[in-house]
Amino acid sequence: MLDLIVIGGGPAGYHAAERAARAGMQVCLFEKNTLGGVCLNEGCIPSKALLYSAKILENARACKRYGIEVAEARPDPGMIVKRSEKVIRTLVAGVRARMKNAGVEVVREAALVCGKSGEGFKVAAGEGEYAARRLLICAGSQPAVPPIPGIREHLGGFVLTNREALSLKEIPGELVVIGGGVIGLEMAAYYNAMGSRVTVVEMLEHIGGPLDTEIADLLQRELARQGIQFYLQAQVQSVREGGVLYREKDATVEIAADKVLLAVGRRPAAENLGLETIGVAMERGAVKADAQGRTNVEGVYAAGDCIGGVMLAHTAYREAEVAVQAMLGREESVHYDANPSVIYTHPEVACVGLSEEEAARRGMDYEVRKLSMRYSGRFLAENEGGDGLCKILAEKGSRRILGAHMLGNSSSEAIWGMAALIGMGADVYQARATIFPHPTVGEILRETLWEFED
Ligand code: NAI
Repeated sequence: MLDLIVIGGGPAGYHAAERAARAGMQVCLFEKNTLGGVCLNEGCIPSKALLYSAKILENARACKRYGIEVAEARPDPGMIVKRSEKVIRTLVAGVRARMKNAGVEVVREAALVCGKSGEGFKVAAGEGEYAARRLLICAGSQPAVPPIPGIREHLGGFVLTNREALSLKEIPGELVVIGGGVIGLEMAAYYNAMGSRVTVVEMLEHIGGPLDTEIADLLQRELARQGIQFYLQAQVQSVREGGVLYREKDATVEIAADKVLLAVGRRPAAENLGLETIGVAMERGAVKADAQGRTNVEGVYAAGDCIGGVMLAHTAYREAEVAVQAMLGREESVHYDANPSVIYTHPEVACVGLSEEEAARRGMDYEVRKLSMRYSGRFLAENEGGDGLCKILAEKGSRRILGAHMLGNSSSEAIWGMAALIGMGADVYQARATIFPHPTVGEILRETLWEFED
């Protein structure tokens, strides 16, 4: 009998499998598609490869401002997608090598839990039957498909999900993006740079979901300046070949579309795993797990997108670590209030901790300090004509840092420092004793921390 069966080879699954094997467990990992999951194959990584090409294109077009002349910069979408696929292949091979080195057995089959077996659990996959003392469910998520008339019929063709949007070799003339969340904004930014006329239709008042609204509104203004059109508080009514219909006041308006990108969220992929055969409790389609990833069935754990909540790859890594630690008898937990998030548009947004709206919703007494990104020498040197914002929230009185929000390129590389400080419960005074390398864009955080008076 194995020590652990991991179902799902995305960030949560492969990380947990490696950690558990390195801790001495005999581990088998099941993946029905390609190792690396959505993040590596049709999410975080290919989108970053595409967005980097877009950034190079935009920089090339703006290079005159930096004293450089080029004849003309034009995108080659086929080549961009090919490069992205090469990056994916390299990283998938890397995950495979990591599993091999750690001694994890990888089975490329769909795993089906089929009941208890003595001290453990039975799993069927392909022709084989396996048994393990413990199970870790890391089955991930899939795009949410709302019951909007016309969507289902056209899915995978006229209507794209992130999967298809990351591999289009022909750039649509008119692209309508349904949902102004992370996927919607990143893909809108890419296709806008590639030359599509992009319209984002969002049903809420602000883009960016839980983003601090001041940052969200600034990002929207900047993306609109780049040419993306936004319709907010707009409820999509239906989709038909060539257009998207939405309701505005009392009228129905049609937006012309050559392609539509559906990006209205993701939902846990926790069905068809056979979890009912061992009585695992579910909650709103997700596997119900406690702070250490334990389900209601002893020996069965879950981590990553399939437990719902924050569906981010880096959160999944941490949830996986905490679950493996729990198996080893070490009680840790995921610090969700110090969980960073990034939108990799150009400029990018990086945040951690509470937004102003969330702090207010929790009834907290807080103070805010803000600075323009132009206070950073490095930012100024590298962003001709550009601006952005850095915003820090601290609890009134104790001055414990609650949140940090940045709009401006390179902020994704600096935000982890604030995640560490918030995670450790640091106050403004402790945080500003940190020496930041100079000149870096991240120094804007230190400058903003000094805006809190002594
Ligand atoms: P999301 O939850 O970020 O955004 C969905 C948006 O669609 C929301 O703003 C919502 O109000 C809107 N919406 C929902 N129904 C709508 C309708 N009928 N009409 C118009 N708007 C509607 O979901 P998204 O962008 O699909 O991303 C899915 C997941 O992938 C998220 O959990 C996200 O965190 C993750 N992700 C993270 C990335 C990153 O960290 N940079 C990149 C891409 C995805």
